[in-house]
Amino acid sequence: MEKQRGHVIVLTYPAQGHINPLLQFAKRLASKGLKATLATTHYTINSIQSTTVGIEPISDGYDEGGFKQAPSLEVYLESFKTVGSRTLAELILKFSESTSPVNCIVYDLLVPWAVDVARQFNIYAAVFMTNSASVCSLYWHIDRGNLSFPVKPETLPLLVPGLPPLDLSELPSFLAQPGNHSAYLAIIMEKFGCLEENDWVFCNSFEELESELVKAMSGLWPFVMIGPMVPSAYLDQQIDGDTTYGASLWNPTTECLIWLEAKPANSVIYISFGSMADIQPKQLEEIAWGLKNSGKHFLWVAKEPEKRLPNEFLNSIGETGLVIPWCDQLEVLGNQAVGCFVTHCGWNSTLEGLSLGVPMVGLPQWSDQPANAKFMEVRGVGVRAKRNEEGIVTRENLEMSIKEVMDGGKSGEIRRNALKWRETAKKAVSIDGSSDKNINEFVEKLVKGEG
Ligand code: UDX
Repeated sequence: MEKQRGHVIVLTYPAQGHINPLLQFAKRLASKGLKATLATTHYTINSIQSTTVGIEPISDGYDEGGFKQAPSLEVYLESFKTVGSRTLAELILKFSESTSPVNCIVYDLLVPWAVDVARQFNIYAAVFMTNSASVCSLYWHIDRGNLSFPVKPETLPLLVPGLPPLDLSELPSFLAQPGNHSAYLAIIMEKFGCLEENDWVFCNSFEELESELVKAMSGLWPFVMIGPMVPSAYLDQQIDGDTTYGASLWNPTTECLIWLEAKPANSVIYISFGSMADIQPKQLEEIAWGLKNSGKHFLWVAKEPEKRLPNEFLNSIGETGLVIPWCDQLEVLGNQAVGCFVTHCGWNSTLEGLSLGVPMVGLPQWSDQPANAKFMEVRGVGVRAKRNEEGIVTRENLEMSIKEVMDGGKSGEIRRNALKWRETAKKAVSIDGSSDKNINEFVEKLVKGEG
């Protein structure tokens, strides 16, 4: 029985913003001749489809005899580590007697224990960063003691090689308010303390996008840029004929695509805060009236609008706007009618906006988003909406930012920059582009190498 060389298990954290880029990476590897299997939790597995990648379940310990909610994030992460390690090892064993034994695990930063499973089987390990390299460099500098943490007010703005000067409000929330979500920060810092134990450190970004940082960090860290992990059809590529992420934890509404078709080019605001952000009622109200007062058509992804948005606003929308629970974001961003993306600047959404050439207004919420919003603005593809003393983006400020991006004196330049980045993103993943070459080197090593 001839054994196939090169079988990668790609292990994702069970959240939309993690499944999308990791599944996309698995598909890209499969298109280059590797066998790729996505491992994900039982809870998420039925939301994922692919014709080129195998999909296999592992357990997080909360799925036996029906799905249960963990009492806290800390408890969940601990359980995922214990039960996930065991079931991942079982999966590797299952393949070991087949024609395609596993010789590499690519794993999400938030499931750091996968590296121990890889070592147990003496196979390659590669960690996959779903954040930008710029954000990763902040964690890296803290780990190496180059940046003090908690951040001292007198050191602000932070001057970090390869990055623009950063104020507190422009840092990842895990660093600016370290008390919140400390379980995630603990995982991240643990991994940055032992990056070298990985055979590869992949980052969902591209060298041209973060060129100054790449220069500043050259030779210092082992990062390899392989992004943007956006389905290739959206980058006008026919590399693998890939037209969708193939994963959606919620049912996308399709009527919005019909609604968009009838609208003039670049006339609609698309607004979404990704899958995890929880926007406070006061902020939601300001967003609602800011959109309405802008006088533009808008498409807003908001969960439970009847419960959470003001009635007066919902009753006044008429034909101007559409509020929907979930959509296929790439289809929407790729639609000619969309002229502005009001976004929380999750890293996937930021890359999607850049890759599809859509000008953005940033309303970052937590995690890496404040830094992403800053970098987006520095690259000239949009603006960050200003907050008041209470930390709220008022209706007036939102309206002003939307106008700046869609109609203001700078709007032409912003649009041109957005289109320029679209071309650069496309080149990075095209044959012989910077990211494509990096992926090829990895594939070659796995097909030829020991392991
Ligand atoms: C989070 C973090 O914010 C992000 O920065 C991190 O690196 C990954 O995890 P999330 O907040 O969900 O993710 O935002 P984002 O990274 O933008 O990912 C959301 C994904 O859901 C995007 O790929 C987007 O295309 C998709 N989406 C969003 C939809 O398909 N439909 C929607 O209606 C909204």
